[in-house]
Amino acid sequence: MTKINSINAVVLAAGKGVRMHSDIPKVLHRVCGLTLLEHTLRAVCKITPSKIIVIIGAGKDLVEKELARIKTLQWASSVNIHAVEQKEQKGTGHAVQVAMSSLEPLATQVLIVPADSPLVTDAVFSKLAMTCQDDAAISLATSYPPNAHGFGRIVRDESNNVVQIIEEKDCSPKEREIKETNTSIYVVNNSFLAHSIVQLSNNNAQGEFYLTDIVEIAIKENKKVVGVNIEDYHVVQGANSRAELSALEHIHRQQLVKSWMDSGVTFQDPMNTYLEEDIFIGKDSFIGAGTHILSGSHIGERVHIEGNTMITNSRISADVTIKFSSIIEDSQIETGCNIGPFARLRPGTKLNKNVRIGNFVETKKALVHEGAKINHLSYIGDAEIGRKVNIGAGTITCNYDGVSKHKTNIAQNSFIGSNTCLVAPVSVGEGAYVGAGSVITKEIPSRALGIARARQTIIEGWADKPKGK
Ligand code: UD1
Ligand code: CA
Repeated sequence: MTKINSINAVVLAAGKGVRMHSDIPKVLHRVCGLTLLEHTLRAVCKITPSKIIVIIGAGKDLVEKELARIKTLQWASSVNIHAVEQKEQKGTGHAVQVAMSSLEPLATQVLIVPADSPLVTDAVFSKLAMTCQDDAAISLATSYPPNAHGFGRIVRDESNNVVQIIEEKDCSPKEREIKETNTSIYVVNNSFLAHSIVQLSNNNAQGEFYLTDIVEIAIKENKKVVGVNIEDYHVVQGANSRAELSALEHIHRQQLVKSWMDSGVTFQDPMNTYLEEDIFIGKDSFIGAGTHILSGSHIGERVHIEGNTMITNSRISADVTIKFSSIIEDSQIETGCNIGPFARLRPGTKLNKNVRIGNFVETKKALVHEGAKINHLSYIGDAEIGRKVNIGAGTITCNYDGVSKHKTNIAQNSFIGSNTCLVAPVSVGEGAYVGAGSVITKEIPSRALGIARARQTIIEGWADKPKGK
């Protein structure tokens, strides 16, 4: 973490993002599980500005809600994040004008960054802050994207100094050929910003107040403007359309997969694995093709996950095997468990050591103790299953009476015959048995047999009797 003294940050997040064609403001679209706004703020917080001003406007209520959530996160808790509303979006220069009265007068530098560049890093900001010293008024990040269309172009003089930024719509045909573009990431000297930002006019092709015009003001005042080229243009690329969003998601996903490979995880098909931010995967784990591991998931060492599995916000201990096509959500799985194929563990499932959950089993709010087996075609919800219990195929806990949910308790070492319905609230004692096909509505005492089904009747010679009478 680089600590830069007395810097404030202005995060531009008021635009609607017209090219997204969305009811959601652009900065709330997601890359690898986090909103563009959160990605940006994470990077900004790493340089520990003493104040961050977020300019909001389009979709204000939704953006405020996301900001409130972000402020509760641990990495954001020590930073002063303050939202300011830009009621009308009259351009990037106007957005910064709106921020000015909230800046700390003692801040010497102001970082300005759009909230739509999810891959941006604190290294970019530190580099700009470092180069915006002494006689420099502005340091700005530039890049050479493969297609400069739509970007502001960087005009340099004979000595290669930045002298102007011209928006595409204001470019002459010759200026349009310039390949170096403006990324909209700047560090500006605070007192220069204060006196230049009030001089902007909207006399341009878009009738907007362009922040980019502060460059010309600096040059007129014989102040230095530093252009810092960022080689990997993806790092400073904004997501303006769904296509750009998905391209950035793709790159970031590959970055995440690569970082887990570097720490000792095997991926069967790295290009076809879907990881989000805020996960952990222990070394010597194997992740099969088509697997999704989503935010809040913690996977221990030597976990073997066959393909097409989806794990959300769950804790999987070491040495667990998860077979093909299982879905695990808000659950906790202890070491040695064997899950799937085609298992569905819904929120509130906790499996203690060496539990076996087989195919087409659904669990919800279920505490399953060590060594228990639920191997085939069962639904276990609102239940506690004791150690070494065997649940036969097709067993259902009937937890819902149409009004409320009720609990099923099955004590250790008991044996539930196949196709049993356990009508909750109900309990089965230690070491008890339930006959197959039973509908159990009353408690079964310890070591007893509970059987609740019609007795079999045999009618001899039935097949030989005359039919249709
Ligand atoms: C801007 C730059 C352009 C640069 C490009 C890089 C200007 C005039 N142009 O253009 O040189 O190449 O970014 O992506 O600055 N915003 C507000 N309030 C407003 C307008 C915009 O908060 O009134 C925010 C947007 O939410 C966005 C950021 O500012 O996060 C940039 O706005 P956008 O409209 O994307 O700017 P561009 O026209 O792409
Ligand atoms: Ca943009």
